[in-house]
Amino acid sequence: MNSRLLLGEWLPEPDRWEILSDSQAMRLAIQEAFKGAGQTSPNPIVGCVVLDGKNRFLAKGFHEVLGGPHAEVNALKELTDADVKGAKVYVTLEPCAHSGKTPSCAKALATLPLQQVIFGLFDPNPLVAGQGAQILHKAGIRVASFVANPELAKIGIEFHLKDVSTDVQQEWVSLLEQTCEHFLWNFRKQAPFVSIKVASSLDGQMALKNGESKWITCEESRVFAHYLRASHEAILVGAGTLLTDNPKLDVRHPRFQNKVNKVVVLDSQGRCLRDFSSLNILKVHQPENLIFLVGPSVELKKQKETILNSGVKVVNIGTAELNASVTVAQPLDPQLILQQLWQLNIKSILVEGGAKVISSFIRAQLAQRLYVFTAPIIMGAKNGRSWTEDLATSSMKDRIALSWHRTQEFGEDHLFTGRF
Ligand SMILES: NC(=O)c1ccc[n+]([C@@H]2O[C@H](COP(=O)([O-])OP(=O)(O)OC[C@H]3O[C@@H](n4cnc5c(N)ncnc54)[C@H](OP(=O)(O)O)[C@@H]3O)[C@@H](O)[C@H]2O)c1
Repeated sequence: MNSRLLLGEWLPEPDRWEILSDSQAMRLAIQEAFKGAGQTSPNPIVGCVVLDGKNRFLAKGFHEVLGGPHAEVNALKELTDADVKGAKVYVTLEPCAHSGKTPSCAKALATLPLQQVIFGLFDPNPLVAGQGAQILHKAGIRVASFVANPELAKIGIEFHLKDVSTDVQQEWVSLLEQTCEHFLWNFRKQAPFVSIKVASSLDGQMALKNGESKWITCEESRVFAHYLRASHEAILVGAGTLLTDNPKLDVRHPRFQNKVNKVVVLDSQGRCLRDFSSLNILKVHQPENLIFLVGPSVELKKQKETILNSGVKVVNIGTAELNASVTVAQPLDPQLILQQLWQLNIKSILVEGGAKVISSFIRAQLAQRLYVFTAPIIMGAKNGRSWTEDLATSSMKDRIALSWHRTQEFGEDHLFTGRF
């Protein structure tokens, strides 16, 4: 998600020496974080802002790419020792305590003559989990979490936003959490983060019954949809979409020229594998990035050698062997799908369709975020396919209400996003 969509308004880039409040500094750090969206997965995006002792803006930075320097290092790199004397560092996530692809940020900050480090979120990674804050505290630097956090309170770390209402605090928690919702979900649930993306008409149709769906939304929406692809590790579609549209499902966005993503196809009967070589996804993706999840028993006799030699992954969801000959037309279990994809180290998934697959993830309550692009057109339910066609609500009390929702205009369309 981009920060304009999330924040509603955009804080202008400050000039050096401009005085910023604590809230402005943290908000600017959040905006900075989003500049790395799509480039850092499975690491979170992180932003950092440095003010001097009089709250004057000195520098900012963000985690630009997986394996590259962290936000704190990028923010501080142009500053001299004199600049950082008595400075305040605002960072969206607790500075890391451990050395991984890069050295520990907490240890690096601890060597500087800083006055204070204020971080947004407690890092649930067991390798950090309060230890970053403790390193700074022991080095004699005042350290505070921006919002109250029980884990940090247990180890005596103060929190910064004491004088605001619970509602305002909650707003900050949701803002900060949305910067790294995939990462937080992965650690809290040990499961991939699932987003659903739909291009819909005003009357909720995502295709016509004859399979036509190009194009419902405008060019601007479609560019942003590629940004969403770049922000997730894998795109997931059902056999229906693959066979009807024969899409490429790659990332085509000016900011993400070399972005490599995985594609997951739910193909319980192996229907897509029967005419395997005609699939466009084979032309644009490396085979190891294509994953076909098939049912426990699929008929693959003829193409089995071609498919297995091609290098694509074909994984049974169930117990039977790949070459078993019984065909059972049953949708794959979304829970088992996610377990399998987690085992394959996939941390975030963009479910792009079609109607049946989207409905099945919502029904199983296994999606965390929804993106609906709505175009100002009416397609008609009689000959259309609603993106909730397989969902039913028997009583208004059972309707699904989304939280943390926002909308943004893209050309003539509107994008709605919210959390399940
Ligand atoms: N506007 C948009 O945003 C958009 C996006 C994508 C697609 N579309 C349109 O949507 C239409 C395709 O939608 P669709 O509903 O027919 O197909 P779909 O949802 O893409 O695929 C459904 C098929 O996937 C397989 N499947 C396996 N596990 C499943 C599970 N857990 N839940 C649901 N399905 C599972 C089943 O086929 P097997 O039994 O063969 O496994 C099922 O029939 C096309 O017309 C396409 O153009 C529109």
